[in-house]
Amino acid sequence: MRLVSTAAAPRLIPPSELPARASRTRERAATAARLSGSEVRVLYRAPPMSAADALARTRAAALARACFVFNGFILANIMLGALVRAHGAGLACPDWPLCFGEVVPQFDFKVAWEVSHRYVGWAFGVTFLTLGALILRDATLRRVAGATWGVSFALLAVQGLLGALTVWHLLASWSVTSHLIVGNVWNASVLWLGLTLRAFARGEPAPAPLARAARWSVALSALFLFFQVFLGSQLSSRYAGLACWRWPACYDERWFPVWGMSDPVGLHVHHRANGYLLALFVLSMVWATRAIPQISKKARLAAVLVFVQIAVGVANVLLELRVEITALHTALAGALVLTLTSCTRVAFAKETR
Ligand code: HEM
Repeated sequence: MRLVSTAAAPRLIPPSELPARASRTRERAATAARLSGSEVRVLYRAPPMSAADALARTRAAALARACFVFNGFILANIMLGALVRAHGAGLACPDWPLCFGEVVPQFDFKVAWEVSHRYVGWAFGVTFLTLGALILRDATLRRVAGATWGVSFALLAVQGLLGALTVWHLLASWSVTSHLIVGNVWNASVLWLGLTLRAFARGEPAPAPLARAARWSVALSALFLFFQVFLGSQLSSRYAGLACWRWPACYDERWFPVWGMSDPVGLHVHHRANGYLLALFVLSMVWATRAIPQISKKARLAAVLVFVQIAVGVANVLLELRVEITALHTALAGALVLTLTSCTRVAFAKETR
């Protein structure tokens, strides 16, 4: 038995005597606690660990790190996808999975963009299968993270199919939109997988349930972000990025000249309005989670990202969809997705240990 504490000579009290606010933790892991003033510090008793368990935890830590690195690459490929679109190279290869019937076609500027996006996609498939094999061959890791990997793999398969449909349906708006959304959801699932593995590797206890207001603020921020990504990808795939060419008004000093989303102007103003609402929800999340250490920093990061994103969105309009700005806007949206996924996990996940 090992008591993990750096405190000098703690006064040990039995879990049954812990104050009510520590009761949840008491149920889970505490075997003793130190009382100093009004503060209770729970001391964990590390459960006895078999050699197989220790090995599984070491592997889980390494695989978690691999997932986080992978998140960076996926985000870069999402940005690369935006660059393909912004360079008008979405149909540079008219066929799929090959390009002009070749694995390595004759390159020109547009083909190079499109083909590199595809090559990276194929490399992701191989890497993710390898990651899966490493998780599934270990009985403990299979129990902890097998299902999450399975869901994530299904998303990757759908994403590959959507890439094909985007080409076969000549960049139809629904396919471009679904491709961007599923790409981001897949990245979120890889992050979730990494966080699950890391929690297991560290033997972290399940996060204590958050107050209702905090959970609502996280859920609403995530929901509005999802809708915002949907609206944004509709905007770009329906070429409505400059339907409103002024800011803050849309044009002619009118903020909401059209409401219907079937109209490009209506779609554009909804994207702006939903972006501002998203910022309000993220701010409410910062406020509601300010005293919860596991989430408060992530919430503040989300707030910084959302305001930078609004500024980049405005620059996107005023600089008439410059390629670099558009790509940055897409990448920041992806970074927001990851940040809010991490908040959502703290708010809603149940840990497997
Ligand atoms: C606040 C959060 C925001 C998020 C998360 C967000 C996200 C997105 C996303 C995901 C896209 C699609 C990118 C792609 O298809 O590659 C997009 C497009 C766009 N967004 Fe936003 N956006 C936000 C706010 C804004 C604001 C406030 C404005 C303008 C004032 C704006 C202007 C645009 C424009 C013009 C496009 C079209 C880009 C193009 O056609 O290339 N966005 N947005």
